[in-house]
Order: sequence, then C-alpha cells, then structure tokens
Amino acid sequence: MRGADIACEQLSLPETRDLNAPFVKRVTTALPWVIAKWAQTVDGRIATRAHDSKWISGDRSRAMVHRERGRVDAILTGIGTVMRDDPLLTCRVGTPRRNAVRVVVDPELTLPLDRQVVRTAREHRTVVTTLPKAFGEKSEHRRALGDLGVGCMKQHSDFRGLLEALRREFDVSNVLIEAGGGLTGALLREGLIDEAWVFVGPRLLADEEAFGPVRGFTTMRIEDGVPMRLLSVHRRGPDALLHYRFGG
Ligand SMILES: NC(=O)c1ccc[n+]([C@@H]2O[C@H](COP(=O)([O-])OP(=O)(O)OC[C@H]3O[C@@H](n4cnc5c(N)ncnc54)[C@H](OP(=O)(O)O)[C@@H]3O)[C@@H](O)[C@H]2O)c1
Repeated sequence: MRGADIACEQLSLPETRDLNAPFVKRVTTALPWVIAKWAQTVDGRIATRAHDSKWISGDRSRAMVHRERGRVDAILTGIGTVMRDDPLLTCRVGTPRRNAVRVVVDPELTLPLDRQVVRTAREHRTVVTTLPKAFGEKSEHRRALGDLGVGCMKQHSDFRGLLEALRREFDVSNVLIEAGGGLTGALLREGLIDEAWVFVGPRLLADEEAFGPVRGFTTMRIEDGVPMRLLSVHRRGPDALLHYRFGG
C-alpha cells in the first residue's frame, strides 16, 4: 500500500492538553469555549479617547478575524461596541463553516433599529440580552426588533447563565468575544474566558484617556494581575498576534 504522505508530529503532554482543552471543556462542563479577541496599540489601547478604533490592526489580522467568525458558533458583543463601531460581525473572507449567532449584551434594551446587526438579522441570526425590567417595560421596542428578526432574551443574573443558555438553546460550543473593556472585563471577572487573541498594531496612542481592552479590576500589585500563559506569537503583516490561555 502506498504511503498517504501524512506528516506526523509527536506532541508533548502539555501541548496535547492545550490542543484538547476546548473539546474536554465541551464534554465535561455545560459551558462553551470562550475566546476573547481584541486589537490594541503597543501601549495597550483598543480605542482613542474619542472611541476611534478603526483600524488598529491591518488587513491580514482583520482577514484572520473574519475567517474565525466563520468557525465559531456565537459572537458576543456589548451595546457599547455596537453604538460606537456599528460592526457587522460576519465572516466576509472565504466560505464560513458555521453561521454564528450574534449576541448583543444590552442591559437597557437601547439597541437602535438602524444598526448593522439589526438590519442583517434576517440573514444572520441575532439575539439581544436585556435586563428583565427593560424586557418588560420596552415591549414595543422589543417587538420592533423582533419584526426585523432580532430575538430577545432576558439577561441572566451572571454571564455563566448566559453562556449555559447559549449552549443549551443554540448548541453553542465556542464563542468569540468582540467587545470593549466593559463586557470583556465582566466575563473575565467571572473567570469565563479561556483564551485571548491579542493583535498588536504598530502604533502608540500615549494618551491615558484612551480605552484599554479590559476594565473593572482594582489591581495594586503585579502579582494580583490575572495570570495568562503565552501559547504562540505570530507575525500578521505589520502586526503581532499573541495567543494566550487563561488558567492552568
Ligand atoms: N480594538 C478592538 O478590538 C475593539 C473591539 C470592540 C470594541 N472596541 C471599542 O470598545 C469601546 C466600547 O467598549 P465598552 O466597554 O463601552 O462597551 P462593550 O464592552 O461593548 O459593552 C458594554 C456593555 O456591557 C454591559 N456590561 C458590562 N458589565 C456587565 C455585567 N456585569 N452585567 C451585565 N452587563 C454588563 C454594559 O452595561 P453597563 O453599561 O450597565 O455596565 C454595557 O452595556 C468602543 O470605543 C469600541 O470602539 C474596540
């Protein structure tokens, strides 16, 4: 029989564990695998003080994000990002393997009808999660969103509940977070983020009022910072892509 020309590589035990971690999490917990992605400047800012963030990373980095959107089951963002950037959150490079559900965390149900995620909700499933109070009080706005194809879920008391619901109701195994520091920080505080993809664009803002990728912690000592483990470093055109894992 002729050889199949398949290259074989022996991995170390830690490498095997890293490779299998998303699968192991999926079969041993009720939670999906969660990847946070952001583009930052060399001094760690994701937007200027005027909320400008286009574009920190270059074409090659953005193309990679597009491809990844086509490989995950859900994309999670916050109303802050939808208001400032009006993202479409779809895969527009190559052929998507999956049609991710777009989930907007919007506690007060303020999502305007003219946002791109709303206008395209008929072609790309879109869900907004909102506090029970706003869910009840803003039933007219909820109906208007519903008429455009946007589903509305009552917000859970914590994000673990939301992730479990996405797993249960939409069969979501992996989630890409494309949010600002508010939502990413809230998920990190609950220990729900497994992985971070940090695209570093070759620029400094050097402005203390510019926005960082994660908010909401009070950290006095370096050793109290959230530990991360560097898995890989790649070059994407002018950018660096740093791939990290949280936890052990
Ligand atoms: N460079 C990049 O990769 C990138 C990517 C995305 C966004 N951005 C930038 O990030 C900025 C937006 O960031 P942002 O922090 O304002 O918005 P965000 O993270 O997109 O959304 C924040 C939303 O999450 C809610 N939230 C936060 N903690 C919560 C909790 N524990 N429970 C329930 N809801 C919670 C907030 O509600 P409350 O208001 O009630 O706290 C708020 O409605 C924009 O300037 C955008 O350009 C940059």
